[in-house]
Amino acid sequence: MVIVMKNVKIALPSLKTAKLRRNLGIETIHYKMNDKYKTLGVGKTYSIFTYGCQGNEADSEVMSGILESVGFTLATDPMDADVVLVNTCAIRENAEQRIWGVLGQLKGKKRENPDKIIGICGCMPQEEKTTSKILESYDFIDLVFGTHNRHELPKLIYQAYLTKSKVVEVLSNEGNILEDAPKIRASHHKAWVNIMFGCDEFCTYCIVPYTRGKERSRKKEDIIKEVEDLVKEGYKEITLLGQNVNAYGKDLNSDYTFGDLLYDLDKTGIERIRYTTSHPRDLDDKTIFAMRDCKSVMPHLHLPVQSGDNEILKIMNRKYTYEEYMEKIRKLRKNIPDIAITTDIIVGFPNETEEQFQNTLKLVKEAEFEGAFTFIYSKREGTPAAKMEDMISDKEKKERLLRLNELVNEGYKKGHERFLNQIVEVLVDGKSKNGEDMMCGYTPHLKLTHFKSTDDSLIGKVVRVRITEAKTWFMIGELYES
Ligand code: SAH
Ligand code: SF4
Ligand code: F3S
Repeated sequence: MVIVMKNVKIALPSLKTAKLRRNLGIETIHYKMNDKYKTLGVGKTYSIFTYGCQGNEADSEVMSGILESVGFTLATDPMDADVVLVNTCAIRENAEQRIWGVLGQLKGKKRENPDKIIGICGCMPQEEKTTSKILESYDFIDLVFGTHNRHELPKLIYQAYLTKSKVVEVLSNEGNILEDAPKIRASHHKAWVNIMFGCDEFCTYCIVPYTRGKERSRKKEDIIKEVEDLVKEGYKEITLLGQNVNAYGKDLNSDYTFGDLLYDLDKTGIERIRYTTSHPRDLDDKTIFAMRDCKSVMPHLHLPVQSGDNEILKIMNRKYTYEEYMEKIRKLRKNIPDIAITTDIIVGFPNETEEQFQNTLKLVKEAEFEGAFTFIYSKREGTPAAKMEDMISDKEKKERLLRLNELVNEGYKKGHERFLNQIVEVLVDGKSKNGEDMMCGYTPHLKLTHFKSTDDSLIGKVVRVRITEAKTWFMIGELYES
């Protein structure tokens, strides 16, 4: 819906429209800076607060790139920037609460400096209830935009400065693909690479298909070129991003699948390839074989299971059973014997019984996960599960989460113990928070490893470390000189 208020176009979100999966051509936008905004940010600072998944982190890198291309510089104190953007996540109620808290703090800053522009973007504005709430009672927010128009950032900021009134432009459509946008990457050795956007799965609890639009894949040529450029710039590791990477290419009507992409990216010479997230139903043999065959594809897989109960899985619309999930795990272990597998689990889905929860515990034991993100189900307005009446108390749900976490934590520890006394390769990220003269990084199996060193020149390099201690959340080792 588009309305005009104080001469400014206001485009409001609609979850109903967002749900449509029309067969319209998905537009690829080749970013080109409009000369009109070339000096928009000269002499001004910006900051971005980023919440949510890696998709949001990647989006923030694009927004930083766009802002810096029109002259903005990064503020030393993010709260004091001339333009502050809050890139939001709507996945669970507690994620949203945290963000309302930050916005509350920014209200005070706006009072101190009325010329400051405060913008909210990302997944929350795509929800009708959030944008209505902002229009009704968050006067100090100048700019509201969603996940489909971040490339228009200079225009939106320009309008906010010019009109001195709220600029709201949240598009609820299938979405687009943005190419050639400048990026300021957060790391110089690890990079996010979007391979697709959106999600068509419609798991009944999840808001993402409404906030991110239809599944749409980037062209393989564009992805390969991006990775080749990263190799030239000295990047060591890439993480391929998508809500369901195993659906890569399905929308392009070609036989080229995610597995093919892994084989092709292996040839670029990048040292490490990771990817997230895989949907268990779509994880196919070619992907498993690529993990087995390609040296650069790391032996770690995040494979969200959500529940171990077939009835709950069905109501969640996950489209696989306990048995089918375990079959994939067996196939993975057969082909990549040392693989580390992690997962996501939701407890307290509406009316989950104790027996159904027990099935989840059973699966966690059988799958031998080496880590899991565990969540209490959170009702998301507009999703099918939000309409289900729920008889399980919050207390019960919290208790289940604790019981599950106990089991999950054993898996974390075992996953570290198996590397005791072994020499592992660590891509060094930087100084460790685990002690004054320690540094840290990740192994191929994505195990966080701390080791004694103060040598900053190791950052971005792969070093050999002998593991001496295995804790629940990390490993400790010493630099191994061969
Ligand atoms: N696309 C990915 C991850 C999406 S969000 C996937 O399908 O695996 C990350 C995780 O958040 C999900 O795996 C799920 O475990 C959790 N999640 C999503 N919606 C939720 C909700 N309404 N309540 C609690 N957890 C949720
Ligand atoms: Fe959400 Fe399911 Fe899509 Fe993951 S696959 S983003 S859980 S709808
Ligand atoms: Fe959150 Fe949106 Fe990602 S809801 S998890 S930021 S896709």
